Amino acid sequence: MDLINEILKLKQEKNAIILAHYYQRPEIQDIADAVGDSYNLSRVAQECKEKVVVFCGVKFMAESAKILSPEKIVLLPVMDAGCPMAEMAEAQEVLKMKQEHPNALVVTYINSTTEVKALTDVCVTSSSAMKIISNIPNDEIIFLPDKNLGEYIAEQFPNKKFYLWDGFCITHRKVKKENILYIKDIKRDVKVLVHPECEAEIRAMADFIGSTGDIIKYADECIKTEYIVVTEQGVIHQMKKRNPHKNFYVPGTSMTCFNMKKTTLQDVYECLVDMKNEIIIDEDIRIKAYTALMNMHKLAR
Ligand code: 13P
Ligand code: SF4
Repeated sequence: MDLINEILKLKQEKNAIILAHYYQRPEIQDIADAVGDSYNLSRVAQECKEKVVVFCGVKFMAESAKILSPEKIVLLPVMDAGCPMAEMAEAQEVLKMKQEHPNALVVTYINSTTEVKALTDVCVTSSSAMKIISNIPNDEIIFLPDKNLGEYIAEQFPNKKFYLWDGFCITHRKVKKENILYIKDIKRDVKVLVHPECEAEIRAMADFIGSTGDIIKYADECIKTEYIVVTEQGVIHQMKKRNPHKNFYVPGTSMTCFNMKKTTLQDVYECLVDMKNEIIIDEDIRIKAYTALMNMHKLAR
């Protein structure tokens, strides 16, 4: 059976759109109707006219799509494709932190559970965080769950007080300074592109810090030909497609998010055939989380 043709046929029959994050396997990115970062995919999922959204990414992404579009059927091809960082902030603990800082606004990275989003004033993504925080008048902010993104944002807003959660991404934490220095030693004229989920000492080595989408755009627009890409290596598939004459290097061998790589073409096919792995969210929680995500879209414009 030609899996790709079968998937394309099923997509028509079921009135479905396939969305893929930049960290997905190349063959998944290549069959998707839209490939993007978490901010853009959440917009496409909300604005698309299709009835069914097949979200090739991790669970919080598919849940965010369902929160914003309850009338759509949102399918996650592999149900246990989670984001360990999202699980690091637990609702009861967040409630405690809110009580400790009653004047603070709760700003939550989209990499979070629906329960935590429901306790949130506004969500952000790595590409929208700066704009959103600059549109917020509050002086005190609770930021969760990513300590690294939180620190990076806090550095740009020295007049605001940030209370940071202690979460992190297990994939971005693995990159070592020496891995970057090793490539820089061989390739002298190389640009270092870093995702803000990296630790401070890695961010300090960056020529550019940004979301997956912003990193790709930077390499598209820059005249240099050599880049060290300090984020999950899936982004290189798009970078190479768009810039075949440029070279992209991964620091070390460990920049792989295993959850993002769980989804295969077979999984996409099976979830469309059987319409299985539908995201279902309790309506009371969804409505609260909806406000936080809608605030993100309003404040990011
Ligand atoms: P982006 O918003 O940059 O796509 O990041 C999502 C993510 O999970 C990064 O690890
Ligand atoms: Fe979560 Fe990190 Fe994977 Fe992104 S790369 S989905 S933050 S574990």
